[in-house]
Amino acid sequence: MDHAMLLEEHNLRLSWDCHPSEYLDHYLVSGVEDPRINGQSILNRALLVDTLYPGRFDALITEELRFGAVLTWILQQLEKGSTRYELLDTIESACRTHVPEFILETYAWLQDKTCPIPDYIGAALSHFDCDMPAPCLSDLALDTFMTIWNEQLSHMPASTISVLEIACGSANDYRFLDRCGLTRHLSYTGIDIAARNIANARNHYPHADFRVRSVLATEFLDSSYDYVFCHDLIEHLSLAAMERALGEMFRVATNEVILHFFNATWDPDHEIVPVRRYHRNRVSMQKLSVFFERLDAQVTCIEMAQWLRWKVGSPGYHNPNAFSLIVERQVSLAK
Ligand SMILES: C[S@@+](CC[C@H](N)C(=O)[O-])C[C@H]1O[C@@H](n2cnc3c(N)ncnc32)[C@H](O)[C@@H]1O
Repeated sequence: MDHAMLLEEHNLRLSWDCHPSEYLDHYLVSGVEDPRINGQSILNRALLVDTLYPGRFDALITEELRFGAVLTWILQQLEKGSTRYELLDTIESACRTHVPEFILETYAWLQDKTCPIPDYIGAALSHFDCDMPAPCLSDLALDTFMTIWNEQLSHMPASTISVLEIACGSANDYRFLDRCGLTRHLSYTGIDIAARNIANARNHYPHADFRVRSVLATEFLDSSYDYVFCHDLIEHLSLAAMERALGEMFRVATNEVILHFFNATWDPDHEIVPVRRYHRNRVSMQKLSVFFERLDAQVTCIEMAQWLRWKVGSPGYHNPNAFSLIVERQVSLAK
């Protein structure tokens, strides 16, 4: 690495390790970022499940995406000042001026005695815990699909795909890979540049493989993991570091690299925005697609708002700039 890249790495480390451990442990796993309702976290788990058991859980995956969209909408209404009881009343009275159609349809379906999914809207709005601040959802509601997946996956033969998570934070997504019963089916490694994050992750999961390491120099061998995934890191890198990180992830993956972005665009160019010691870029999906296509990969780009509208009829996504990119290595048919 040249001097500029080493300096950038040093600054990235400082940017996260400067925060107290308690803050790092919570800031990305609450509210709309809670991986139990966050569409990109649900999508990531769905891609892993579908790799393990192709097509087997399509219906359940769609229902979990709907659940995420519904609870996100409810959370947003609570944040805007609605009370739980007012909101439940508006939904029960099917008030079309205040409640989107997909919420009303979901609510009606959840009330049906034949519905296989527990009523998570009722759980979110009637279950009241006095210690819970108003704009929070109860664990009873949030854990709905963790319980369902745990049950479903416990019947499946344990499989062994190897997975590397880049910028795993304080086991932010791993907590829910574990709680939904997926980790039994994975050989997982998580890396993060911030020692405090990795200390938190190890504290939660002393037996899991978490390492302090940078994406700019992972030290892993070529093709050493079947799947590599990464949430919300690329926006924070300079252009040179971005290209190095993407190349490094692609080098290490045998099958796929799955990338999730909180600030991306269809525009032809990146918007590179240095902020303090790191960046907060707007990343061009076109540019990244070209980058990976030059490496002979097949790229699928998902714009979350549009995709969820198509998938479950939700009117949008809490973050209109959220995109995910699935980069598949082409399998060579030549002997
Ligand atoms: C916005 S947070 C995202 C954390 C987690 N992926 C999530 O979505 O909840 C960015 C993470 O990237 C990590 N990070 C920053 N630079 C890194 C690098 N060069 N290599 C590995 N991790 C890095 C930070 O420590 C931080 O945990």
